[in-house]
Amino acid sequence: MKEIIEKVNILKEKLNKWGHAYYVLDNPVVDDAEYDKALNELINFEKKYPELLTQDSPTQKVGGVVMDKFEKYKHKLPMLSLSNAFNKDDLINFDDQILKEIENKKYNFFVEPKIDGLSISLIYKNGILFKGVTRGDGFYGEDVTSNVKTIKSIPLSISDKNDYVEIRGEVFLSKKEFEKINKQRQNNDEELFANPRNAAAGTLRQLDSSIAASRNLDAFLYYFMDREKFHTHSDSLNYLEEMNFKINNLGKICNSIEEVYSHIEYIQSQRENLEYEIDGVVIKINDFDLYEKVGYTAKSPKWAIAFKFPAEVKETTLKNIFASVGRTGRITYNASLEPVQIAGTTVQAATLHNADFIIQRDIRIGGKVKIKKAGDIIPEVIAPIQNEEYIKLKKWTEDIICPECNSNLERVDGEVDQYCINSQCPRKIVRGLEHFVSRDAMNIEGLSIKIIEKLFESKFINNVADIFKLKKFQKELIQLDKMGEKSVNNLLESIEKSKQNSLEKLFFGLGIRHVGKKTAKTLAINFKSIDEISKLGFDQLDQINDIGPIVAKSVCDWFEIEQNLNLIKDLKELNVNMIYLGNEGTKNNDKITMKSFVITGTLSKPRNYFKDLLEEFGAKVIDTVSKKTDFLLAGKEAGSKLEKAEKLGIKILSEDDFLEMIGE
Ligand code: IVH
Repeated sequence: MKEIIEKVNILKEKLNKWGHAYYVLDNPVVDDAEYDKALNELINFEKKYPELLTQDSPTQKVGGVVMDKFEKYKHKLPMLSLSNAFNKDDLINFDDQILKEIENKKYNFFVEPKIDGLSISLIYKNGILFKGVTRGDGFYGEDVTSNVKTIKSIPLSISDKNDYVEIRGEVFLSKKEFEKINKQRQNNDEELFANPRNAAAGTLRQLDSSIAASRNLDAFLYYFMDREKFHTHSDSLNYLEEMNFKINNLGKICNSIEEVYSHIEYIQSQRENLEYEIDGVVIKINDFDLYEKVGYTAKSPKWAIAFKFPAEVKETTLKNIFASVGRTGRITYNASLEPVQIAGTTVQAATLHNADFIIQRDIRIGGKVKIKKAGDIIPEVIAPIQNEEYIKLKKWTEDIICPECNSNLERVDGEVDQYCINSQCPRKIVRGLEHFVSRDAMNIEGLSIKIIEKLFESKFINNVADIFKLKKFQKELIQLDKMGEKSVNNLLESIEKSKQNSLEKLFFGLGIRHVGKKTAKTLAINFKSIDEISKLGFDQLDQINDIGPIVAKSVCDWFEIEQNLNLIKDLKELNVNMIYLGNEGTKNNDKITMKSFVITGTLSKPRNYFKDLLEEFGAKVIDTVSKKTDFLLAGKEAGSKLEKAEKLGIKILSEDDFLEMIGE
C-alpha cells in the first residue's frame, strides 16, 4: 500500500505541475496524450482505492456534481463595485479626492486591465479550496464551488495553510472558447450567447458541473483580502502568483496620473490582440496602508476606480434588412452584415430597431454603415457612411405586410413601432409559447424555440394549454427527429413540475401586454389567486403602487376576451396551479402591506435583510424615490435619496422607527 500511496502522490504532483504550466503559464511542458495518460492512471487508482481520493486531487477538475440549486452564501466582507471614469479629467478628479484624504503623502497607482467576466470570491481553509462564491447582490452570493473546482487555472490546494484565506478575481471565457461554444450551440439549434461574459455567467450557473468542466472557464485573480500581510497590492499579486494563481501580466505600477493615462492607452491598444475580453482598466492605489485612510462610499472604495473604454465602432457593408415579429406582434428590423471583428467577436448582424430608425437615418441596403457594440447590448447600426456610392443606392421603404403571415402591418396608438395584429400569426404564437416556457415564466426546460416550432408545425401545440397535454403523445414525440426518449421524458417531467409553480410565474408567462415580471409578482402577492385578479376593476388595479393606468387597462382588457377566459379554464382543468405560494405578504400590517418602500444608507444589517422582511409583509421595495413612494427607510450616511424624499415630503423612517412599526 505504501508504494501505491507514493505512486498516487507522484501522479498528483506531476499533474498539478503540468496543469499549472499549461493553464496558468500558457507554456505546456508535456503533450496532451501524456497528461491524459497520467490522469487516467490516477483516476483508476482512485477508483480502486477510494480512500486515496482527496478533495484537491487533479481528477476533481472533470466535474460531475449535479446540484438542485445553488445555496446562498454570505460574504465575510461585502463585494463592492467600482465607480467609473470615462476620461482624463475623471482620473485627475479621482487623484484630487485621494490627495484631500491623505495630506500629500506620496503614493503610487497600480494599473491593470478590467476583465469582462464575473467576479468570484475564493475561500481556502487550511490550504484547501473550500468555497467559490459569486458576487450576487454584494452581500450574499451563490455558492458555485462545484463549478469553480472545474476551472483548470484555479488551484484546489495552495501553499498558504492559514485557516482562512480569501482571494477575489474574475471568472471569464476566452474569446476562442466563446466562439467555440456558440458554434456548438448553433449546430444544436440552441440560443447563442451574446458575448463571452454572458457565456461565462451561464456556464458558472450550470447545475451540472461537467458542463462547466467542458467549457474551459478561466480566472484572473486580483485581490488578496488579508491586506495586513502586505504593504502593497503589487506584493500581494506576486504572492498570488507564487501560489500558482493566474495573474494578469499587463498590470503596472504608475507614479502619476500621466503615467496611468499612458498605460491605459497602451492596454487599450492591446485590446484586440488579447485572448480575453476587457472592458476597461482598473486603477488602484498600490499602497495598502492608505486604503483605510482614503476610505469608501456606500457602494465602492475611494482607493480605486474603473476607467471604461468607449464602445468600439467599426465600418462594414450592410447586406440586407429583415423584419421579424415578436410575441406581441411588434416588428423589429435587423441588418445582415459583411462579417466584421468588434471587440474580439465576429459580428454579422445588428439591430436597426424600427422602421423610423432606418428612415430617419436614411440607411440603405448595400451601403457602408458604422456599427457599435457596447457592453452586452447586441450590435447596433449607428449611421450610414454617405459617400458617392451610397447616393446611387435605392432608398429603403418600410415593409407593409407581416413577413410571417402576410397580414397588413399597423401602427397602434401612435407608437413608433409597426405591429402584426393577426392573433393567429404563427410567429406570434410560437414566440408567445417561447415566452411562456422561459426561465422567469414557467421555467420548462427542454422546449427550445426550435422544438416549439417543430411541435407547432406538427400541430402538437397551438396554445400554452396544449403544452400540458403533451404527455398523451409521449410515443409520437419520441419519433420527432432529434427528440430522443430521454429528452422527451425530461421534457414531460419538467412540464409536470411546472404545474406547481407559484402564480406569479404563470401570470407573467401569459404574456399580457405591459405585465412584466415585477407586475406579475405584485399582483400575485397582493391578490393570491388568478380568480381574485380577474375580478379586479380598472380603479382597483390603478390604485396599486407600481401599477399605472396603462398596465391596469391592459390587465382588465385581457380578462374580457373570451379566448383568454377559456384558456384559464383549460389550464385549471389541467391542474396548473393558480395560487400564490411564496411567503411574501404572509404577514399583515396595515401600515406596511401594499406600501412602497425605498431603502438607503447604512443599516445594522444588509439591505436584503430589510427587503426580505418588508416583502414578508407584502410591501414593495423599489430602487428609486418618486411621488409614489410611501416610506424611505434611511440608515446612516443616507445621501441623495434622503434629500429627494425630503423634498417630496415622503415619510422618513429610521431603523428604530421601522422596527417599532413592525412590532419588534
Ligand atoms: S478590483 C473593491 N480589479 O470590475 C472592488 N475589479 O465594478 C475591487 N473587475 O466587480 C475590484 N477586473 O468584478 C478589480 N482588475 C480588476 C478587475 C475588476 C474586473 C470587475 C470586478 C468588479 C467590477 C468593478
